[in-house]
Amino acid sequence: MTDFTKPQIIQLPKIHDLRGNLTFVQGGSTIPFELKRAYWIYDVPAGEERGGHSHHEMSQLLIAVGGSFDVNISDGYSWRSFTLNRPFEGLFIPPGIWRTLDNFSSGAVCLSLVSNEFTEDDYVRDYEDFKRLSQLREPIL
Ligand code: TYD
Repeated sequence: MTDFTKPQIIQLPKIHDLRGNLTFVQGGSTIPFELKRAYWIYDVPAGEERGGHSHHEMSQLLIAVGGSFDVNISDGYSWRSFTLNRPFEGLFIPPGIWRTLDNFSSGAVCLSLVSNEFTEDDYVRDYEDFKRLSQLREPIL
């Protein structure tokens, strides 16, 4: 059985016909949380980094709907990196994971589907705070 306490790549449905491809998400069936918000990151200048935080409650699915970028994640014990470049794949990130996004290609668009409405209170933006909190948890990666 799939363990959605852990970050992982989720394959999304891909409907292919002669007119092209279509991919969709539907809370509960294609993604492991109820979708409350979507935002997207684009026009990232070469060499810039996004992210640099973790969340207390928020679960997230990151999708490269165009171009490519890298997502580097840590549970405070170890790091893993993923290159996202397929519009039919999402990286699921549960709460308690530090993430940075970098190596954006020209024209890359990062679609982010998330489980919570926006509140700054859900962010941990200080890496030392994150490290302290992570030591209170078992490793997630
Ligand atoms: P932030 O989450 O720090 O960006 P990144 O995804 O690169 O880590 O958000 C950047 C700014 O945008 C910050 O001031 C908060 C604001 N913001 C909103 O107002 N609403 C949102 O839904 C999001 C994701 C960010």
